[in-house]
Amino acid sequence: SGKNYQFKVVLLGEGCVGKTSLMLRYVQDKFNEEHLSTIQAAFLKKKIRIGSNSVELAIWDTAGQERYHALGPIYYRASNGAFLVYDITDIDSFERIKSWVKELKTSLGNNCILCIVGNKSDLEKNRNVPIKEAEEYAKSVGAKHYSTSAKLNHGVNELFLDISKRMAEK
Ligand code: GTP
Repeated sequence: SGKNYQFKVVLLGEGCVGKTSLMLRYVQDKFNEEHLSTIQAAFLKKKIRIGSNSVELAIWDTAGQERYHALGPIYYRASNGAFLVYDITDIDSFERIKSWVKELKTSLGNNCILCIVGNKSDLEKNRNVPIKEAEEYAKSVGAKHYSTSAKLNHGVNELFLDISKRMAEK
């Protein structure tokens, strides 16, 4: 019969890439056009079913601004999964996730499922991060690559469902 899983997942990435937006779209089905910088971190819970199993996700949204970087370990500690989020129109935000990946691998080893997330897919015409490069990078670090638009609600449910399945299978 069914199992009850409890997982912690964390959203990491530069300021303004859409971490808060992904969480609020997923948990509350809301989207805000304004950028309100996250201060430190916040978390929301969401329960889902996968077949006969139930999964309770604690989703931690962290602050992307560089001055909060040192707080990272407090929030990613003991995470079962991590979303490394970049903005497909911003190459610097893509470079930024590489340092998070290194840091997570050092701190959590292979215990944490890594998802590389190219957000703002609705802005395809302004894309600056070649999709192939992003996918190859993800593969090279043993992560999976996802494309999302928190704005249009594209790929968001799939992202959280997929990481939940992968954490449950671990
Ligand atoms: P910090 O809290 O500073 O780390 O930022 P964040 O990564 O949480 O970004 P946030 O969710 O606040 O979004 C930043 C800006 O990008 C806001 O103006 C959002 O409306 C916008 N945004 C987020 N997701 C999308 C998206 O999928 N498409 C578009 N076009 N804009 C988006």
